[in-house]
Amino acid sequence: MAILVSGGAGYIGSHTCVELLEAGFDIVVTDNFFNSSPVSLKRIKEITGKTFRFYEADMTDRNAVRKIFAECGDIDAVIQFAAYKAVGESVQKPLEYYSNNLNCTMTILDVMREHGCHNFVFSSSATVYGDPQSVPLTEDSPVGKTTNPYGTTKAFTERILMDCSKADPSLNIAILRYFNPIGAHPSGLIGEDPNGIPNNLVPYIAKVAVGKLEKIHVFGNDYPTHDGTGVRDYIHVTDLAKGHVCAIEKLARKPGLVIYNLGTGHGYSVLDVIHAFEKACGKELPYVIDPRRPGDIAECWADPSKAEKELGWKAQYGIEEMCADTWKWQSGNPDGYNTEKI
Ligand code: NAD
Ligand code: WQD
Repeated sequence: MAILVSGGAGYIGSHTCVELLEAGFDIVVTDNFFNSSPVSLKRIKEITGKTFRFYEADMTDRNAVRKIFAECGDIDAVIQFAAYKAVGESVQKPLEYYSNNLNCTMTILDVMREHGCHNFVFSSSATVYGDPQSVPLTEDSPVGKTTNPYGTTKAFTERILMDCSKADPSLNIAILRYFNPIGAHPSGLIGEDPNGIPNNLVPYIAKVAVGKLEKIHVFGNDYPTHDGTGVRDYIHVTDLAKGHVCAIEKLARKPGLVIYNLGTGHGYSVLDVIHAFEKACGKELPYVIDPRRPGDIAECWADPSKAEKELGWKAQYGIEEMCADTWKWQSGNPDGYNTEKI
């Protein structure tokens, strides 16, 4: 039996492939390299010493997805990472985001049904909670008041999954709501490799630390937080990846539809993260205070106790390791995967 990892060459997907292979699972990886590089697949093999099947395919292409299921014949579960994820771009290109993100998931679910495959893990996001009324966020906190089309694709997909689960009780679905994934595999061989200027805080800090960008822009220092800058629940990507292994194990026990927050339960401000990164890279990092970024919220962190109780999963790494591993990846690969040509 094998697990199909859709979007498996990407940031979280590649780390999850490593954890699945190390836990002894057989995997089939698919990606269209819209936002990733084949070098990540080579590095997964290097880290684990294991090999796997790979299909370059667009997961909205029903015939391509059918071919993968038919040729493999042993796909027992799917982890669905494939999506566009840039919040700002989603405001400019809502149709592209709704089309790609919803159709990847719906196409896969439809082909799973044709092939009698019943187990599905979905990459959702804390973004479904919108601007939280209170923190920490539990899985029962209100969802749906999203602030951008990207977030709405996640909220809509969750709704679609709930309807599919009602219609077909044999489906087992784990919706995983990630908080802020950062860090890299401790080997430094795989990590986050955004195209162009990063939108997210930690990839931006890493580019400043490696000398590719001049200074960090802190978006606002007048929030009602301990130092005025935005507070988030950063989670090491390896911890997050392990959460997917636990989710797959949970689905084998046929739970129907389940939802879990994957976060650490701790909030760090922008300045806390900058200072932790300074320790990791051993130098002072220049920053300026800019106005707030439109659409940002003051603070957001998880109550991760449900995942601990029901999945036996708990984040192990702290902010120090998250920054140290990001630095190991970025300093060893100053141009990301473009540092190595294959
Ligand atoms: P990523 O862009 O690195 O990975 C997504 C992968 O999917 C990429 O390799 C991309 O090439 C591929 N892809 C996109 N559309 C495709 C298509 N139509 N067919 C085949 N492949 C396609 O992003 P990531 O950070 O690894 O995120 C993975 C998932 O987790 C996404 O669904 C994202 O929305 C979700 N998520 C990410 C974060 C985060 O901060 N990184 C937080 C919450 C949720
Ligand atoms: C973190 C903090 C910024 C950049 C986003 C998505 C969310 C999820 C995770 C996918 C905030 C501040 C940032 C910078 C800064 N993705 N910041 N300077 O916005 O919490 O979440 O990624 O599902 O949906 O919205 O993450 O890393 O962009 O910002 O000061 O250059 O850093 O204001 O307080 P965010 P982020």
